[in-house]
Amino acid sequence: MITADAAGTWTLGDQTVNRMGFGSMRLTPNPDLAVAREVLRRAVELGVNHIDTAAFYVSPGGILDVGTGAARFATELIRAALSPYDPSLFIATKVGPGLLPSGEFEIADTPVRLRAQVEENLRRLGVDRLDLVNLRLTRRGGSIADRFAALAALRDEGLIRHLGLSNATLEQVDEASAIAPVVCVQNSFALDLRRDEALARASAVRDIAFVPFFAIAGTSREDGASPVTDDAVTSVAAAHGVTPHQVRLAWTLHQGDNVLAIPGTGDVSHLEQNIAAAALRFTPEELARLN
Ligand SMILES: NC(=O)c1ccc[n+]([C@@H]2O[C@H](COP(=O)([O-])OP(=O)(O)OC[C@H]3O[C@@H](n4cnc5c(N)ncnc54)[C@H](OP(=O)(O)O)[C@@H]3O)[C@@H](O)[C@H]2O)c1
Repeated sequence: MITADAAGTWTLGDQTVNRMGFGSMRLTPNPDLAVAREVLRRAVELGVNHIDTAAFYVSPGGILDVGTGAARFATELIRAALSPYDPSLFIATKVGPGLLPSGEFEIADTPVRLRAQVEENLRRLGVDRLDLVNLRLTRRGGSIADRFAALAALRDEGLIRHLGLSNATLEQVDEASAIAPVVCVQNSFALDLRRDEALARASAVRDIAFVPFFAIAGTSREDGASPVTDDAVTSVAAAHGVTPHQVRLAWTLHQGDNVLAIPGTGDVSHLEQNIAAAALRFTPEELARLN
């Protein structure tokens, strides 16, 4: 069985993780909690030690579920399945967008609300310190200094080990880096979503991880994976005896040693396929075709 170390490792701040990780956003739609537990346990069993989450990854009932206490939170599914956590496990979360206790959606932009979201993540994950907090921006461009400084203060206080950004531009990465170290940038990126190709390379130069989301879903974004009809992808997949989704995922890992994968799934067989994609190696000709 291929394991998550097949694509090598990257060091996030002070902790080395396998480049093939796991995103937890797709765990919450399924009301069968045993499936989420199985997916998470299998991920770790197959060597995943970098998991992405957010306190607002919640069952599709959203506001209603939170209000009635019936919500399934990805953070709590992670805690139930994996705590006490192995020290090798690195859990990245994000703040900015969030859910108030009433279930209403918010964009935290004050130190008080950012702290409240950090504390919510600590509580739901059941930890004293968060490995990584990404400031998830809802607008690309503009100053983020105040919000990032508020998170840097929480890092100084010991509530957070490392900081990152999500949905950021290079200017915002550089602005944040002048305040505190930025260990990763998490932006949408896929074969058909390539706005941030230059940012992935610029991150490498700065020793910052570039962590794409929607590597499989691409332009379908939140709607999830759609059938892949692209000739180049389907022919490369056939040549390797894998699925087009695995090719899309593996392509991101070919974009630089600093690129980490966090494919999301609520399905154990998809999880196993995704981890197996860590072992795919494309020839220059295949990469040229995919590009
Ligand atoms: N920073 C941000 O703003 C942000 C935004 C979105 C997501 N994220 C993070 O990034 C992670 C990845 O994003 P994502 O989950 O939206 O997109 P993704 O990983 O590109 O794709 C997930 C979709 O692909 C399907 N899928 C996964 N593996 C598959 C396979 N081997 N074969 C066929 N279908 C497969 C999933 O459905 P099944 O469940 O049926 O497998 C789901 O519909 C998320 O889980 C989350 O942790 C971050």
